[in-house]
Amino acid sequence: MIKVEIDQNKFQTLLEINTQINSNYEDGTRLLTKIMEYATNFSEGEASSLMLINNENNRLYFEIALGAKGNEVKKYSLESGEGIAGWVVQNNTSLIVNDVESDPRFHADISRKIGFPTHSILAVPLRVKDRCIGVLEIINKKDKKLFNNEDLQWLEIFATQVAITIQNAKIYQKVKNEVSQLKEQVLEKDGYHTFIGKSNSIMEKLKIATRAAGTDSSVLLLGESGAGKELFAEQIHLKSNRADGPFIRVNCAALPEYLLESELFGHIKGAFTGAVNTRRGKFEIAHRGSIFLDEIGDIPVTLQTKLLRVIQHKSFEKVGSNDTIQVDTRIIAATNKDIEKEVQEKRFRADLFYRLNVLPIYIPPLRERKEDIPLLADYFLSRFKKETKKQIKGFTKEAMDLLFSYSWPGNIRELENSIERAVVISQASYITPENFILNSFSQSHEDDYMGKTLKDALNLFKKKFLTKSLKANGWKQTKTARALNIQRTYLSRLIKELDIIK
Ligand SMILES: Nc1ncnc2c1ncn2[C@@H]1O[C@H](COP(=O)(O)OP(=O)(O)O)[C@@H](O)[C@H]1O
Ligand SMILES: [Mg+2]
Repeated sequence: MIKVEIDQNKFQTLLEINTQINSNYEDGTRLLTKIMEYATNFSEGEASSLMLINNENNRLYFEIALGAKGNEVKKYSLESGEGIAGWVVQNNTSLIVNDVESDPRFHADISRKIGFPTHSILAVPLRVKDRCIGVLEIINKKDKKLFNNEDLQWLEIFATQVAITIQNAKIYQKVKNEVSQLKEQVLEKDGYHTFIGKSNSIMEKLKIATRAAGTDSSVLLLGESGAGKELFAEQIHLKSNRADGPFIRVNCAALPEYLLESELFGHIKGAFTGAVNTRRGKFEIAHRGSIFLDEIGDIPVTLQTKLLRVIQHKSFEKVGSNDTIQVDTRIIAATNKDIEKEVQEKRFRADLFYRLNVLPIYIPPLRERKEDIPLLADYFLSRFKKETKKQIKGFTKEAMDLLFSYSWPGNIRELENSIERAVVISQASYITPENFILNSFSQSHEDDYMGKTLKDALNLFKKKFLTKSLKANGWKQTKTARALNIQRTYLSRLIKELDIIK
């Protein structure tokens, strides 16, 4: 009578575990801990452990360890074949040992180190498709009782559940990784960039961009050339509910006026000489998506009027046509010009500016967010390594210092180009300062020289120039002198006179 009740209780538990295994693939550890807790209680054990084989070194390590010393025992691992656990794994056979001390297979070392005396052990192999991947152990049946065959059979059932849980978690992780890899490939294939950045200032801007993405208002991206305006435009599109629609890029500075008009709005056959076919413009193609108008500050005034109409009425006509076309697209514009000055000087229509400037976002230059340099440098290195199939491990400390001290007037684009060139010319496993050809002069701010005598200005220049050259040559004086075509003795005198310190 009693026995039946206990069994029902156990079956209930097994059913519950099965349900959980079926509903939760992600949090394997939590589920495994739960199964181990049940298994320990059912067999009246004082402690228990789930050990898995590490395929790299063939050692058994504790994935889960319960009981008074559970946390401490996790520091240890067993050699393959070592101890009772090792024997079970090696022989792929279950084992009841009720008098541990007299069993020669017992490895007393760990139990002694953690101060947890062991009397009895129940151990069953953990199998996936007949292959043994680890072991389940229950330690010390309470009140000095002995483990029996029924305990063993139950533990074997639990072992099956543990195995399924581990397999599920592995498969889930694998699928998850593959999906994210595929997603990345899809993004790259579509011509979107991987966005890199972690500095507070860039994360702040990304937050603003994400908020802007939720609206349909025009966005105006401001900032120096190469700072990443186009990548922000991509992010705004990808984070908007137009993400499945097209993202169309137009560089407004790249074409003469009449071609730009046709590029943006399209033309009908015969609209002008050379218009042999009817053509759809970028606005039409960007229907249900976003249009990125780069270098908007360079758009001719006549086209500004037409652009204003598209924003106001969401409609336009092809060049040479009277038919009005309706279009639903979100405008993201960018410029590195001082656009307000353009407005003041009447080169840019004020009404268009106000329409575009609903959501302005200023992208800070790279020199104002140097925390992003190592991240970007590593990212570009791994990209160009792949492209050139070179085995480069990273940057020397001196090379990274150089990247940090440089002011990057060309921003991320310049960093990207410099690393590409460095990877191409590098012949060692680390990129060194010599691999970089940076424009040293751009680092001197002209303002530094103002108000100085010619002599002081020249000395300041010499100091800056020599410091940079020394840095670029790893502070080796002979090498620097050779690069600058001066005597080494002259260089070392200048270093002293100008008080140059490393
Ligand atoms: N956040 C970023 N993460 C990774 N690469 C970037 C990032 N910002 C810019 N880049 C790289 O720098 C280049 C220039 O960026 P881009 O957006 O075209 O600058 P801008 O439009 O401001 O001139 C891009 O081609 C891209 O490779
Ligand atoms: Mg650009």
